[in-house]
Amino acid sequence: MASIDEVVAGEILPAKEAISMLDQVDLGPTIDIPEIPPEADPDSTPLEERERMKKEIMRLKTERNAIVLSHNYVQSDIQDVSDAVGDSLFLAREGAKSDADVLCEPSVLFMNQILAAMKKPHQTVLAPDLGAVCSLAAHADPERIREWKANHPRGLVISYVNTYLDVKAESDYCCASANAAMVLEHVLTHSDPDQPILFLPDVFLGFFAAKFIEKSGHPLDRLWLMLGACHVHEAIRPHHVNEQMRLHPEAAVVVHPECGCTSACMRQVTTGLVPEDLLQFRSTQGMVKLVREVPQETIIVATEVGNLYPMSKAAPEKTLVPASREALCAFMKQNTLQNLYISLRDMVHEVEADPDLAERAKVPIERMISIG
Ligand code: 13P
Ligand code: SF4
Repeated sequence: MASIDEVVAGEILPAKEAISMLDQVDLGPTIDIPEIPPEADPDSTPLEERERMKKEIMRLKTERNAIVLSHNYVQSDIQDVSDAVGDSLFLAREGAKSDADVLCEPSVLFMNQILAAMKKPHQTVLAPDLGAVCSLAAHADPERIREWKANHPRGLVISYVNTYLDVKAESDYCCASANAAMVLEHVLTHSDPDQPILFLPDVFLGFFAAKFIEKSGHPLDRLWLMLGACHVHEAIRPHHVNEQMRLHPEAAVVVHPECGCTSACMRQVTTGLVPEDLLQFRSTQGMVKLVREVPQETIIVATEVGNLYPMSKAAPEKTLVPASREALCAFMKQNTLQNLYISLRDMVHEVEADPDLAERAKVPIERMISIG
């Protein structure tokens, strides 16, 4: 067993070992977190100017035969001028089925890369800001995956969607938070019981995968995990959720499985401390659906706070309580109304995929898109 002092973020370990170290390893970001630009707050720009830009964006979309695909975390003005708003799986599916000439995606680079790998020859993929990357994706080093594959020739690699194309190219399957359980189910039923499985890079979602594997009656020894995490979600700890549950005892709770509180929250459910229907795990889009489905008036939301906007649009009468008000993704917030407008006006910044990587990455991406 690896010693805790020697283990670093991004390492690959047997699931049992990785889980035992969850709360002790420094999973902090390996890349710099940028400043959030002032324009990320819509109120920093006069209303008239915002309306003018929105009109221009709508005009440019028609002129260029473009669609705007936005992630749930980007600021409200951008969501309001988008053709589709959703989670990473939904955006990948919308992009893959679109025939528009231009796919402009205010989100983060790994999502733009999926569109670039799947695009039709006549299409152009644009990102409003190339600084919108991802601390979780930065944990996954393709070299480590190649090493693991060399040591486990029959091994299967499942990459979470928050990875770059070079990692996806080394993978057999991709999954998103919306279909992680379904992809795991598929892999378990389409593989031999002695085939090792590597799930990466998020160790909290990896914990979720481990519980799923155990529940399905498979030995946990098959599973290997990477010690990666998102700096925003990792910082949402059990005490944040517990405090809000204490303040709002009547509330439903919904947790993104990348959260640092995932393992503790899952234990609360599996030990029967909290009923399953009161504490659920969902993707960002799953949360938007859940807010309409649950009878509770108040919902405690454990994810990036931007998700409260599409949730509140879906159910304006509900009270949404963020588990942590500090959960802000500075990468997503690099997308502003200003740079979206410039992106469509000047056709910047084009995101292209290396043809060889795209060819290899398409296989796991297509599997992700088709499962669930
Ligand atoms: P979703 O697929 O649930 O939108 O998650 C993507 C992400 O980056 C969450 O931080
Ligand atoms: Fe990446 Fe975390 Fe931002 Fe999602 S919230 S894009 S996982 S850094």
